[in-house]
Amino acid sequence: MITLAVSMMVIINSCTASQKISMKSGAQLWSENCQRCHNTPSPSSFTPEQWETVGMHMQSRALLTEVEKNKIIEFLKQ
Ligand code: HEC
Repeated sequence: MITLAVSMMVIINSCTASQKISMKSGAQLWSENCQRCHNTPSPSSFTPEQWETVGMHMQSRALLTEVEKNKIIEFLKQ
């Protein structure tokens, strides 16, 4: 397990692109990713519970990482 964790860290650290992305705020990720396909839904459009479901669906569509999706959902739930 330790070896796996270490090699995961190496993979994550060697990927500078995703590091840059993960520095972005939920609001940034939301405005950059969600309007590629449709108008960006405003945070007040859905309840927090609905955003969880939407997030799961749109994570795969927008090819977001778990971290990015969670940031966007946190922003949208506010
Ligand atoms: C690759 C294209 C694509 C991206 C990127 C994308 N969406 Fe979507 N989205 C769709 C499509 C297609 C639908 C309609 C079909 C469906 O509901 O699955 C949809 C539907 C939705 C709906 C449902 C609207 C309704 O009235 O029911 C919401 C909310 C939504 N998207 C939010 C988001 C958010 C937030 C993001 C950014 C994380 C995002 N989408 C990124 C393609 C995309």
